[in-house]
Amino acid sequence: MKISSKTLVVLSIMFCYVISLCHGSFRPFTKTVVTLTNNISPPTVLTLNCTSKSDVLTGNVPPGQKYLWKFIANWWLTTKFTCRFSWANQVKWFDVYTADRDQGNCFECNWSIMADRLCSSGYLDQANNRCYQY
Ligand SMILES: *[C@@H]1O[C@H](CO)[C@@H](O)[C@H](O)[C@H]1NC(C)=O
Ligand SMILES: *[C@@H]1O[C@H](CO)[C@@H](O)[C@H](O)[C@H]1NC(C)=O
Repeated sequence: MKISSKTLVVLSIMFCYVISLCHGSFRPFTKTVVTLTNNISPPTVLTLNCTSKSDVLTGNVPPGQKYLWKFIANWWLTTKFTCRFSWANQVKWFDVYTADRDQGNCFECNWSIMADRLCSSGYLDQANNRCYQY
């Protein structure tokens, strides 16, 4: 099976990311995984650029594919990842992880990315799973 170069790029970014976050933390915490799935109508490729204070994650996600990364949320509740989603002539922004909303509430923070909204499915309390307009 051929592993695409995109997959390798995603994996290397994730690897660097995990290393950079583990470095400097003095105690292991539970890892959080954010998974974004491109559910925009095929054949639309989703381009994403997700940034936190210290990280920039970028990639192109083919239809139906997932993009994920792991991190350990900090103790002082400031962990935040904001994504810029773009495809065709569209540009949308969304905070896919913010400590206020998410810390302790999801450890598999899954988002389905659609053209007009995005929906969560990873909250421990199912009642928190919902869709947001951009
Ligand atoms: C991603 O966004 C950051 C912050 O806005 C920017 O500095 C960076 O150049 C962007 N990267 C890509 C590949 O668009
Ligand atoms: C989140 O997505 C991952 C990857 O598809 C999946 O393995 C996991 O079961 C999902 N978790 C939840 C809570 O939906």
